[in-house]
Amino acid sequence: MKYYLLLFCFQLSVLNITSQNKKDAEIFVDLKQKPNEISPLLYGQFIEFLGRSIDGGIYDEKSVLSNEEGFRKDVLKSVQDLKTPLLRYPGGTVVKIYHWKDGIGAKESRPKRKNLIWGGIMDNHFGTAEFVKYCREIGAEPFLVVNMSTDSPNDASDWVEYCNGTGDTYWANLRRLHGYQEPFNVKYWGIGNEEYAEPDAGKHQNVNKYIEDSWHIIKLMKLQDPSIKITLVGNADDLEWSKKVVSEMHPVCDFLAVHFYSMPSDSKYSTLFQSVDSFNEKFDSIRTLLNTVPAKVQDFPVWYRFPPRSEPLKLAIDEWGIWDMQSNKGTGVYNLEYPYNWAQALAVGKFLNMFQRNADIIGLATWAQTVNVLAAIMTTEKGSYHQTVYTPLKAYRQYSQQNNLNIVVNTPASKDKMNLIDAAASISNDRKEVTLAVINLSENESVKTKISFGNLEKMELKNQIIYTAPSLDAINTLEKNIVTETKIKKNIPSKNGFEITLQSGSINFLTFEKIDKK
Ligand code: AHR
Repeated sequence: MKYYLLLFCFQLSVLNITSQNKKDAEIFVDLKQKPNEISPLLYGQFIEFLGRSIDGGIYDEKSVLSNEEGFRKDVLKSVQDLKTPLLRYPGGTVVKIYHWKDGIGAKESRPKRKNLIWGGIMDNHFGTAEFVKYCREIGAEPFLVVNMSTDSPNDASDWVEYCNGTGDTYWANLRRLHGYQEPFNVKYWGIGNEEYAEPDAGKHQNVNKYIEDSWHIIKLMKLQDPSIKITLVGNADDLEWSKKVVSEMHPVCDFLAVHFYSMPSDSKYSTLFQSVDSFNEKFDSIRTLLNTVPAKVQDFPVWYRFPPRSEPLKLAIDEWGIWDMQSNKGTGVYNLEYPYNWAQALAVGKFLNMFQRNADIIGLATWAQTVNVLAAIMTTEKGSYHQTVYTPLKAYRQYSQQNNLNIVVNTPASKDKMNLIDAAASISNDRKEVTLAVINLSENESVKTKISFGNLEKMELKNQIIYTAPSLDAINTLEKNIVTETKIKKNIPSKNGFEITLQSGSINFLTFEKIDKK
């Protein structure tokens, strides 16, 4: 009976069954289902001209730790190790006042400007070419966001020509004159950022105005390079805004953006974890919305002079992370430089599990941000170190397989009704290896977990990788990394499932291999 109930539940992308009276957990994986590809771009990063995110973080001409290009070598190595596939730049809110033309050509002639959004001075030495160079160094695709507030549609079009132009034209030639013969081939472009945000120095708080101006900008950009992929601003808290953007712009838009910041209202761990869970429900309405438009646009007037969207419209979570308003330890602009503790690293794992479980609709996601500000990597004059959140950001990229499998999780709950076990499953392209990412969110209780695969598959548990820390409060510093990684070879075959004890406060990657039925 229980087995049939579980099978029925696969209609949903994941099912969490909470049993408050039970101490053990169960995870059920049906191997007969059709997996959904996890977009490799799901593991992207974001950098912005905000405090010491770029200037003084990624880039520091004055530091003895930087190379001749001004890139901090220690930071570059850490970002390379993250293996991020996509890097979003230059903002964020700052795009509303950022002029890309200030950031090209000889560095000494670039204008210095006040950063009207976040304060400080931008010397524009880390401009378009430096950003693209950085992306090449870390192996990421560049993702540029255009200013639709204080730049013109023509400026956006010129930026595409400067980056991607191959002909004998002004902006492409200027790029060559600046030393870059080959086009940068920037494929991913965002049109504005959080344009609905009234306090920002934008001018598109009205969705109709946003749509009208985006159309104009996209036309001019696509006439420069019809192959570029466009991300438009959606709104996770205002479905009407998102609906309007999708219904009117879907022929020329590849991704609809939303921002998911967990901002817990108090400092209890359960509040933090439940605030991540609260995003779960957003996916269903967004999925319904994305399914209202055809997978491929057929009927598109030839007079646009560029082709319409040819692949399904996907979601871009182009800013996500944990914005700790409770932290009294922050420094820098808006106190955005603060330590992330191990609980917050577990919450990042929860986010990534949720993204994998919704892989069918997510085209890309970029964690906000990368260095110093809401950061995975912190710098000081003497060196840099990884925050706790660096661990899941790196590990999910490293250990997850390429396709998501829906699962059923039967989890015990804490006294304040928080699910203790959170999980996602992924399967390799050759369908031989399955990796379960399982988090035990409990502060002090280990949880015995039964893992079974449907259809009486014989599987071998190959290995378990465990990340944990001395306590959920623990943080990393320049002097000490408190996160431990343990790799255990298991090589346990079984037809009847597996029983694993998951340590309290741990992120686990369990890799199983199918054993061929001979
Ligand atoms: O990441 C910091 C800020 O958060 C970004 O500039 C903005 O887009 C968001 O509100």
